[in-house]
Amino acid sequence: MAKTAELILDGKSYKLPVVEGTEKEVAIDISNLLEETGAITLDFGYKNTGATKSAITFLDGDKGILRHRGYSIEDLAAKSSFLEVAYLLIFGELPMKDQLDKFSDDIKRHTMVHEDIKKILDGFPSSSHPMGVLASMFCAQTAFYPESLDPNRSAEGVYLSIVRSLAKMPTFAAWAYKNAMGHPVNYPDNSLNYTARFLKMLYALPAEQYEVDPVVADALDKLLILHADHEQNCSTSTVRIVGSSKASIYSSISAGINALWGPLHGGANQEVILMLEAIRKDGGDTEKWINKAKDKNSGFRLMGFGHRVYKNFDPRAKIIKKTADEVLSKLGVNDPVLDIALKLEEVALRDPYFIERKLYPNVDFYSGIIYRALGIPVDMFTVMFAMGRLPGWIAQWKELRENKEPIGRPRQIYTGQNLREYVPIDKR
Ligand code: CMC
Repeated sequence: MAKTAELILDGKSYKLPVVEGTEKEVAIDISNLLEETGAITLDFGYKNTGATKSAITFLDGDKGILRHRGYSIEDLAAKSSFLEVAYLLIFGELPMKDQLDKFSDDIKRHTMVHEDIKKILDGFPSSSHPMGVLASMFCAQTAFYPESLDPNRSAEGVYLSIVRSLAKMPTFAAWAYKNAMGHPVNYPDNSLNYTARFLKMLYALPAEQYEVDPVVADALDKLLILHADHEQNCSTSTVRIVGSSKASIYSSISAGINALWGPLHGGANQEVILMLEAIRKDGGDTEKWINKAKDKNSGFRLMGFGHRVYKNFDPRAKIIKKTADEVLSKLGVNDPVLDIALKLEEVALRDPYFIERKLYPNVDFYSGIIYRALGIPVDMFTVMFAMGRLPGWIAQWKELRENKEPIGRPRQIYTGQNLREYVPIDKR
């Protein structure tokens, strides 16, 4: 018999359907609640609200499980490439070799950016944060590909927009950095793979020969995989809600980039390194900083700790911590902030405040240390996150479209003034 939940409101009983996911997650379906009861639900920050049914990513925060289309993140990070994971997320299955070759070739064909977008880039002062520049350039594609605005675009048209998004993202990302440096931009070298192409555009200087270090390219590829999707987080929900108005893929993803920028979301990776540096300069007393994080009046949080969904180790953080060790030793880098991070983690994990609240290191805690070892500047950390998250945003935008989901429009409980009479300005 189908399960139901019972709600009693003003003495009247209502039966609500119960929905179960393929991993046995349970939801009470309130789709008809307002119509039947006249009441809405209230859930600040959507902590208990499922906004959609999705077949892309499964996450169990208590057990520390993350899977994409059924494949564990551990397997994907160890055995696949970023473009393979992108294909899996977007199209639902791991690609055959010819499918992946075609996908990769299609992307290569679109890595160049219209020269007029460079004029837009030139308008940004070098003080601009690369995330703002990235979001703007990404959205500017709507002007260069106006056909993308058609909400009834054919499947071939949507495929082209997907390929363009993936192809141009590394070019935009590298150019946003070049702009911040006041350097001339580099054009994509299509003899290289996705990650190496990005690195060359980021680092190459006009008068110097630049060879991509395969250790750096492989480490970055793994980091991108670890960021590729994370179900209905703040930026992905933003992409879905903007997309639900039938806005174009470029404007929906640009909105996601802006949502990711905040320090509580993707911006945390930049904040972690700034925090670790500040602790180092302050003498490295981790206990002092842990106490500051516990003091609600300090306004300080331990960046890279805690997660809305993971109440156990973030599985991505485990892989990243191991990767950080490997990358630092392969590159012969000795970063003093790694020792501070390890000590901070050790102190926090035996502190009752963090234990009771189930606060563990998240994906951002160690990623900044690897980015630094790879030579990626701090302002670019969140841009790296955006590059990694792009396939997830695309997959979620495509799913929303294919499922013909309604426009996203939450309700509210109004707490303002009741009706009052307007008083002319000279009588107030
Ligand atoms: N340091 C100190 N206390 C914390 C922290 C932290 N990093 N995170 C949460 N808490 C406390 C919080 O003060 C609250 O305490 P109390 O119950 O006494 O009021 C309790 O833990 C629950 O926190 P919350 O803010 O209600 O939890 P949330 O689910 O709304 O927030 C979070 C999740 C990730 C925004 C939060 O843990 C945080 O601000 N962490 C630091 C920023 C960060 O690392 N963000 C990256 C998240 S992972 C990458 C991504 O996907 O975006």
